[in-house]
Amino acid sequence: MKKKTGKSICIFSGKGGVGKTIFTLNLAGIYQSIGKKVLIMDLDLSSGGISLAINKPFDKTIYNLVDDYNNNRFHNFNDYITKYSENIDVLASPKDPRQASKIDSKYIEIAIDKAEYFYDVVLIDTNHNLNETNLVILDEVKNILFIMTNDPLDLKNMKSLLSIFRDLNKNNYNIILNNSREPMKKYFSLFDIKNILKANVDYIISEEFYIKNIDNYVMNGEIITLQNKAASIFNKDYTVMMKIATDILGKEDDEHEEELS
Ligand SMILES: Nc1ncnc2c1ncn2[C@@H]1O[C@H](COP(=O)(O)OP(=O)(O)OP(=O)(O)O)[C@@H](O)[C@H]1O
Ligand SMILES: [Mg+2]
Repeated sequence: MKKKTGKSICIFSGKGGVGKTIFTLNLAGIYQSIGKKVLIMDLDLSSGGISLAINKPFDKTIYNLVDDYNNNRFHNFNDYITKYSENIDVLASPKDPRQASKIDSKYIEIAIDKAEYFYDVVLIDTNHNLNETNLVILDEVKNILFIMTNDPLDLKNMKSLLSIFRDLNKNNYNIILNNSREPMKKYFSLFDIKNILKANVDYIISEEFYIKNIDNYVMNGEIITLQNKAASIFNKDYTVMMKIATDILGKEDDEHEEELS
């Protein structure tokens, strides 16, 4: 019997465009570099960008997985996976955005659960809406990484998100301040941010990680943390991302390991 040992991590935010997708890819690169087998699940169902960013042909998506599961045609998880590199696989978001509404959230839960049996790390990229799908994902995953930028609207939304989490007694999250997305935005000091959020900022990705030609990487399907010398060029931020990655690996899971039956 196989043990379920994978760590699922949802990358979430209070606002769109804060750098979730780029961060997800970079974190996947970090995990690959330490020999972990990673699945990126693109659960931004109607506008997912992971498959564009990995630039690989793909056939099956989460829609096919759910549809087959629903119709008793599901056999292997692997049938729905696109291979990106040695240690990084991707489960793509639907090819047609209209398929998004046909995906029942209960199957999303099943898909995450299955992925945790086959991978060391399951990274879930999604959009920032607090819709049914995302609520199911946030409830199902073991870890959540909230990403925010130094932006008033972002801060306001993050504050609301945190109060919802406090109401639900959920504290399986960490907060990342992403200064690489818009390096010129520095309105609030770190002190202000913590004060407004009434929470600690766990990690900061600095403005030094702002990549001017990032679109080239995206169009070429390249992950920045997997580039030659990324560890030395982006030394400080690479170290932060490595710390995020290893801190999560070191966390005790709330639930006991389950056995696949
Ligand atoms: N480190 C960076 N340096 C330069 N540009 C960046 C960086 N990170 C993200 N960006 C750019 O910022 C934009 C938003 O990033 P991204 O798509 O990762 O955000 P997102 O939170 O996933 O957005 P959405 O909510 O739409 O899914 C993109 O154009 C991306 O290329
Ligand atoms: Mg995105």
